[in-house]
Amino acid sequence: MTGNWVLALQERLWGLAPWDAKKISDEWFRAHFEYAADVVHQWVGSVLDMRTARLLNFGCGDGITDLSLVLRYGATAIHGVDIRREYAKLPRIAREQLGMRRIPSALTFETITPGAPLAGRRELVDGIMSWSTFEHVQRDQLAPIFADLYACLRPGGYFFIQIEPLFYSPFGSHLRRYDDVPWHHLLASEDELWKVIQNHEGPMDASEVDFGFADFGVEGYKRFVFKEYQALNRLTADELVQLTGQAGFVVARQERRQVDMAIPDGLKGQYPDELLLNNEIFLLLQKP
Ligand SMILES: C[S@@+](CC[C@H](N)C(=O)[O-])C[C@H]1O[C@@H](n2cnc3c(N)ncnc32)[C@H](O)[C@@H]1O
Repeated sequence: MTGNWVLALQERLWGLAPWDAKKISDEWFRAHFEYAADVVHQWVGSVLDMRTARLLNFGCGDGITDLSLVLRYGATAIHGVDIRREYAKLPRIAREQLGMRRIPSALTFETITPGAPLAGRRELVDGIMSWSTFEHVQRDQLAPIFADLYACLRPGGYFFIQIEPLFYSPFGSHLRRYDDVPWHHLLASEDELWKVIQNHEGPMDASEVDFGFADFGVEGYKRFVFKEYQALNRLTADELVQLTGQAGFVVARQERRQVDMAIPDGLKGQYPDELLLNNEIFLLLQKP
């Protein structure tokens, strides 16, 4: 982030700006500041010392999780990269949600071109994390990006990936905020789905409404979310493990979560049950 040295200087003079989690009013913020950061810390913090590790967050979004890792878990160096610039809102969001006047200098952010290599531009990192991002990456860019991230990591370093919801699971369309019919995206046509979204009125689950909503407005957000659905790469948990393995990573630990729901008759036999019920993967990889 430009001006990071100014933040570093201010911190040296006055310490980290005070913050207060009791001020949190936004459920999207809370879901990332608390839940997502807790999970990343459980997985990454179990293999790396957060206080000394240099970390890269691939697909950092608005950076709320990174902010939490610094404030709540003592991380001291996180570089967030993303093809969008949602992280530019973080100073305002932190002011509104935590009463925090300055973002910690431990955080740096960068906008990247989709698929542009990162390796060789910075020091090797100890850990890479990625939350709810790899299902959005263009499919033909997955293998080169995994190879590039492999090259960004020091030998022995770790790479933590979380994806939820996986495409073939009941709400794998990422459209649940508008459509709560399970597996609707595998049963209905795109036109039918778009009509459901267009006709949606009333409130959405606040924990699913990000800070981009204010920019897009009600109708614009519907178009944005639907385009995101159309761009999903439909990655499965098995494919993720296979692709990262091809890049050279080895699996240190993984957990796959299943939903406990009845598969509709219209889908039974069309896809393996395991694919339809597996909604989340946590994957911890290591570079040998
Ligand atoms: C659902 S958001 C998750 C953001 C953040 N990790 C979070 O938990 O809020 C997916 C993110 O992936 C980013 N993304 C998609 N394709 C990408 C790519 N090729 N390289 C880097 N980021 C990408 C998007 O811009 C978006 O911010």
